[in-house]
Amino acid sequence: MNAEFEVLKTEVLNCTKCQLSKTRTHPVFGEGNLHAGIFCIGEGPGRDEDLTGRPFVGRSGQLLDKILAACGFTRKEHVFIGNIVKCRPPNNRAPLPEERSMCLPYLLQQVEFVNPKIIILLGATALNGLLDPKLRISQVRGTWIEWHNRWVMPVFHPSALLRNPNLKRPTWEDFKKVVAKYRELVNPDHTSPYI
Ligand code: URA
Repeated sequence: MNAEFEVLKTEVLNCTKCQLSKTRTHPVFGEGNLHAGIFCIGEGPGRDEDLTGRPFVGRSGQLLDKILAACGFTRKEHVFIGNIVKCRPPNNRAPLPEERSMCLPYLLQQVEFVNPKIIILLGATALNGLLDPKLRISQVRGTWIEWHNRWVMPVFHPSALLRNPNLKRPTWEDFKKVVAKYRELVNPDHTSPYI
């Protein structure tokens, strides 16, 4: 790993800035290509992520990997995956405002470093944590938002798709837009199995 990124990772792995550090097993720094064209942002670690120290490895993560694969994207090459908070909130409650604000600088540094053209916001916490607490995921999903010269696409969280399969079809439409934008901005020759 790049030295600058390694320093940031070490900082996160030793972080005690908020109370989540007291109940976590492992902080989840994030993973993927350090120079990915796409940065995916989730809410925070769940149980499986807390135990392994890796992002999106539970049921939501398996679904996310399936969606990414259908788009021709892999963690190794096309995306970096991070979260609004790096440590698991007890019982998977939503991260509190002060936990989010303590943790946000880490995410912002990660985004600066990876320098993605495209950001995918997975769910309401990512949308509200990164952009604007007043935005509603059901209203803005599927629409491009410009943020610091990057193209931001809010989508439903994979866990919402697991709870409500009716959300899968609109989410697929949203990811088609991401693939088109990826071809436009990153690689015109990008191929994917379904799009
Ligand atoms: N859900 C998230 O939002 N992030 C993870 O890393 C795993 C599940």
